[in-house]
Amino acid sequence: MKALQDKTAFITGAGSGIGRESALKMAAAGAQVVVCERDEEAGRRSVESIEEAGGSAFLVVADVSDDAQMREAIETACSRGGGIHVLFNNAGIFPDGDGSPVDTPLDIWQWVIDVNLKGVFLGCKYGIPAMLDSGGGSIINTASFVAVMGAATSQIAYTASKGGVLAMTREIAVEYARQGIRANALCPGPVRTPLLEEFLSDPDVKARRLVHIPMGRLAEAEEIANAVLFLASEASAYVTGTTFLVDGGIAAAYVTPE
Ligand SMILES: NC(=O)c1ccc[n+]([C@@H]2O[C@H](COP(=O)([O-])OP(=O)(O)OC[C@H]3O[C@@H](n4cnc5c(N)ncnc54)[C@H](O)[C@@H]3O)[C@@H](O)[C@H]2O)c1
Repeated sequence: MKALQDKTAFITGAGSGIGRESALKMAAAGAQVVVCERDEEAGRRSVESIEEAGGSAFLVVADVSDDAQMREAIETACSRGGGIHVLFNNAGIFPDGDGSPVDTPLDIWQWVIDVNLKGVFLGCKYGIPAMLDSGGGSIINTASFVAVMGAATSQIAYTASKGGVLAMTREIAVEYARQGIRANALCPGPVRTPLLEEFLSDPDVKARRLVHIPMGRLAEAEEIANAVLFLASEASAYVTGTTFLVDGGIAAAYVTPE
């Protein structure tokens, strides 16, 4: 039997990067995937890729920061998908203008907090009752290595949002542990996806980042998706409340190899 046979997985931001790779992997592992995307075209492409590979998926178009849209998206997932067993709150943004606390405009701060933190809250607010009705399951909330480490080149709203995701996930894990729901905060290091590639298009900025990664390279989205699949499946049955770092050794490093 496949690892996610007869399970329904709700994945936000499944049209690109880590979300898309995870959607493909979960579908290959037998899950029916609910692709939740703000970008309809990107979401449709993920559904098509899953179906071409013989998997099952459907699209719900929603902005994770919109209360009514998220409530409806979860309702649709339950009515069409028969419940929710895996909830991957992955959608996130990293916009220009998010810098030091002194320079970051209030509208940028609010936008990042709305998508990255409120979006995860809304996913949990509506997703947890659906998961309890479905007999429990696994929540994976995407934080980041910046939730546990500071940088002198700050992205203050992004970092604050990810710290919030980490703390919120820990609390959810404790509260629902005896009701059959596990919750873990996925903390990727830098991953080669559209979100980061734009930021690292300047070679100096890229070199400054790479020097801090013991492995000396960015992660591939597929490497993060492998961890997501582990957290989603029963292979991680005793894993909950973790700060699940998949970071090429960044958080362990003081001095990196030459
Ligand atoms: N790429 C990295 O280096 C890295 C590192 C650590 C954490 N992360 C986190 O991983 C997650 C995925 O990042 P990625 O690199 O795959 O990004 P990406 O930009 O490749 O994909 C993000 C997807 O989320 C969707 N999205 C954005 N805002 C949305 C909204 N309001 N509602 C619904 N969908 C929305 C986008 O349309 C896009 O398809 C994010 O939470 C990000 O913060 C990324």
